[in-house]
Amino acid sequence: MMKVFIIIVSLIVNVVCTVVHMHHVFVYGTLKKGQPNHFEMLDAANGQAKLLARTRTVERFPLVIATNNNYPFLLNKTGTGQRVHGEIYCVDQKMLDFLDEFEDVPKLYQRTTVQLEVQAGDGEGENTLKPGSIVEAFMYSTNKYKPEWLQKPTYESYDTYGDHGLQYHEDTNPE
Ligand SMILES: *[C@@H]1O[C@H](CO)[C@@H](O)[C@H](O)[C@H]1NC(C)=O
Repeated sequence: MMKVFIIIVSLIVNVVCTVVHMHHVFVYGTLKKGQPNHFEMLDAANGQAKLLARTRTVERFPLVIATNNNYPFLLNKTGTGQRVHGEIYCVDQKMLDFLDEFEDVPKLYQRTTVQLEVQAGDGEGENTLKPGSIVEAFMYSTNKYKPEWLQKPTYESYDTYGDHGLQYHEDTNPE
């Protein structure tokens, strides 16, 4: 019974997410739950965002920490690095516009579509996509990186408070 209910809810969310011009967005850095910019996803002034599932990229990408501000960067260098873990959200156009601005698209980041593998839920009943299924979503990545960034350690799952000690912070000059 519960399972049928979950399947129906997941169908509705998926259908609603595409039919009413909502978008799937994958976030893997400071916008994730528990990370320093997550509040932006929750701020109704930015638009609407609903967490659908935890996922990881089908392809490998280098997710590195760079600049004086310790920003996480997902480098557009498919096939190196790791399958990056993150969260998939259903967002409205307003939130997508906000995120484009937040990620400085197209100057710094580009927004492209990638394939993601849905992972098992964390027991909070928020996984509305089927674990193991492949979904498409927008992802922000950059081509504007310094070649030496490719030598940096890569992270499978970004955590600003991790062992690396490279906590994210805002500065006026990230260089
Ligand atoms: C990587 O860059 C190429 C060339 O600009 C582009 O075609 C491709 O969509 C980019 N991939 C991602 C994941 O952004």
